[in-house]
Amino acid sequence: MTLWGIVVAAGSGRRFGGPKHTIELGGKPLYQWAVTCLQDAGCEGVVVVGDVPGGIPGGTRRRDSVAAGLAAIPGHADYVLVHDAARPLASIKLAKAVVARLEMGDAAGVVPAVPVRDTVKRVVGDVVVETVARSDLIAVQTPQGFVVADLKAAHGADDADATDDAALVERAGGVVVTVPGEPSNIKVTYPEDLLLALALCSPPPA
Ligand code: CTP
Ligand code: MG
Repeated sequence: MTLWGIVVAAGSGRRFGGPKHTIELGGKPLYQWAVTCLQDAGCEGVVVVGDVPGGIPGGTRRRDSVAAGLAAIPGHADYVLVHDAARPLASIKLAKAVVARLEMGDAAGVVPAVPVRDTVKRVVGDVVVETVARSDLIAVQTPQGFVVADLKAAHGADDADATDDAALVERAGGVVVTVPGEPSNIKVTYPEDLLLALALCSPPPA
């Protein structure tokens, strides 16, 4: 079985305040962490999407950038790991666990998940209308793993937006399953997340 990787590094970084993926973190550019993770997890090759060295052009929405990556991976790829360049700290062990779950053959997609830590409420404007039961809610991360044919079919099935690829596969009727994610696998969304990532990737003091 052949595994390829896609690292999405396009987008505007609106919440961060500008482009974030070429900023140095612990001695290498932010996006390179995600690339190395997928390479070390056994990908035959990794396509990088976005305005970073070696990257191909991305799209307006995240799903458009993933579609550009999907079009660039070779036809013989069976599985694909799709990873946010904004998640520098996913472990190789996590990426391998996603692939191992995919290889069980009963799912179109595999997502790393962690329990939701905050209490979640539904609001209308600023008025709380419901406190959502948290026990069956999860927060999902990347890398997410897919059967290439299923992800391509899901992308072809509709053009509505989605914040992750698994949502496209779910909408197309594909089975998506979870594996335990990692609390340290944070996404660099706001500037302070970079400080947190730096603390998490630094070796502890001797
Ligand atoms: N991404 C992408 N193409 C887009 C939008 C997002 O490749 N058109 C990628 C980003 O590079 C990032 C990941 O998807 O690695 C998650 O997106 P996010 O952290 O939301 O990045 P941005 O969309 O750039 O940030 P914001 O939403 O704050 O503008
Ligand atoms: Mg975004």
